[in-house]
Amino acid sequence: MSTELINAFYLGAAILFILALGGLSSNENAKRGNLYGMLGMALAVIATIFSDAVTSYWIIVICMIPGAILGFILAKKVKMTQMPQLVAILHSLVGLAAVSVGYATYFDPNLHFSGVEKTIHDLEVYIGIYIGALTFSGSVIAFGKLSAIINSKPVLLPARHMLNLIMFFVVVIYAVIFVNVDNIQEAYTPLIIMTLIALIFGVHMVIAIGGADMPVVISMLNSYSGWAAAATGFMLSNDLLIVTGALVGSSGAILSYIMCRAMNRNFLSVIAGGFGTTSQAVASGGETGEVVASSVEEVAQVLSSAKKVMIVPGYGMAMAQAQQAVAEVTRLLMGKGVHVIFGIHPVAGRMPGHMNVLLAEAKVPYDVVFEMDEVNDDFPNVDVTLVIGANDTVNPAALEDPGSPISGMPVLEVWKSKLTIVLKRSMATGYAGVENPLFYKDNTRMLFGDAKNNMDELVKALAT
Ligand code: TAP
Repeated sequence: MSTELINAFYLGAAILFILALGGLSSNENAKRGNLYGMLGMALAVIATIFSDAVTSYWIIVICMIPGAILGFILAKKVKMTQMPQLVAILHSLVGLAAVSVGYATYFDPNLHFSGVEKTIHDLEVYIGIYIGALTFSGSVIAFGKLSAIINSKPVLLPARHMLNLIMFFVVVIYAVIFVNVDNIQEAYTPLIIMTLIALIFGVHMVIAIGGADMPVVISMLNSYSGWAAAATGFMLSNDLLIVTGALVGSSGAILSYIMCRAMNRNFLSVIAGGFGTTSQAVASGGETGEVVASSVEEVAQVLSSAKKVMIVPGYGMAMAQAQQAVAEVTRLLMGKGVHVIFGIHPVAGRMPGHMNVLLAEAKVPYDVVFEMDEVNDDFPNVDVTLVIGANDTVNPAALEDPGSPISGMPVLEVWKSKLTIVLKRSMATGYAGVENPLFYKDNTRMLFGDAKNNMDELVKALAT
């Protein structure tokens, strides 16, 4: 394939990636956005395979076939609730690829640079390996935490900020040594030491993050993986990889920023690592008061006689796969003339947009689904709020208890509605492991049990 044609393919792919990101910014266009992304990736793969850079098709076939089969099986098998883990482990592969490409390019006997070009190339390699290694180890730890292989509680080493600072300086000192080495043998030591430090830094950064703050880490690692890909693009002199990496890196950074704002956290402290931790212990068993349990019949009755109902879904709705039943209850209530809307917290569930995806899948109309900021002032006008498997995102302790680990995180103020009904199986805490005083409020009723079973029963009760 001629260079002109490859460049035209790359340009087409880059435009499709930009259109994909644009499409993903709203529910209505998300499917089209995905399609653009797939087409762009297909173009990019075709152009790369038929470029001069590829000298042996066998290696490509040997790598692509098992990769494609594995990807296909994983995508088919993975449950919606396991998506964040999958994303984390895929980010780790991007990091690993950057590290491998970095080493391979540096030690490639066919590549020779001198003068300023050599310094620039060496820095590209050094930074690429650094970002790749920390993305790899950080993503592996995030995968472990999200899939409960590793305890999700923050692990805080003594003097951790000092440790980060020392690691940073050692990396900078070795960067200077690395770009000044006279022969390739001398480069091994600085490269290997820097790689080890980057791996430790990735682990250290993510183990220090706990509880409800993991969403920010996921989007931050997403951003890092983009920068790792861009660095790989520089090393391989591949313009498309640079553009694509920069798109992922910057959109991940913007998402991290939005998440931080949504959770009232400081963006800079996230980047520095060790974020979202507090020395205070998580409140355990300290809540007292009466918990009032309700029944499906009672809930059906209050819902039917309400004028305005707000539904607040959370991770439990995803776990129970209750979204279809929730959509059915919504239709039945609307049929009875009840004004039903949804309030979605930005970090409800386990990945950005988790609830929106589930509600869209169950065909809940987009125009009744609102973001937290759009509805939070509306609760005093709501007759009944139905909290379906949400916990941290509706916890008043975030606003009322300065010592709480989730203190400062904006939450849906469901307790301000006239009546709040909480569907969950037990009095267990949510992801952040924090007790929830909402359950003990006078205007709260608990509907215990699996959310899907209860919603199915509610559908029957409302339909009769
Ligand atoms: P959570 O605080 O995680 O609470 C979910 C609740 O659902 C649990 O208390 C659980 O109580 C209940 N539940 C589980 N299975 C259920 C079932 N089958 N039926 C009924 N209830 C069930 O949920 P949330 O309010 O959505 O908050 C999300 C949390 O995850 C936040 O802390 C957030 O920071 C964190 N997080 C979010 C993300 C993103 S990007 N969204 C990523 C990682 C972490 P029972 O066990 O008593 O049923």
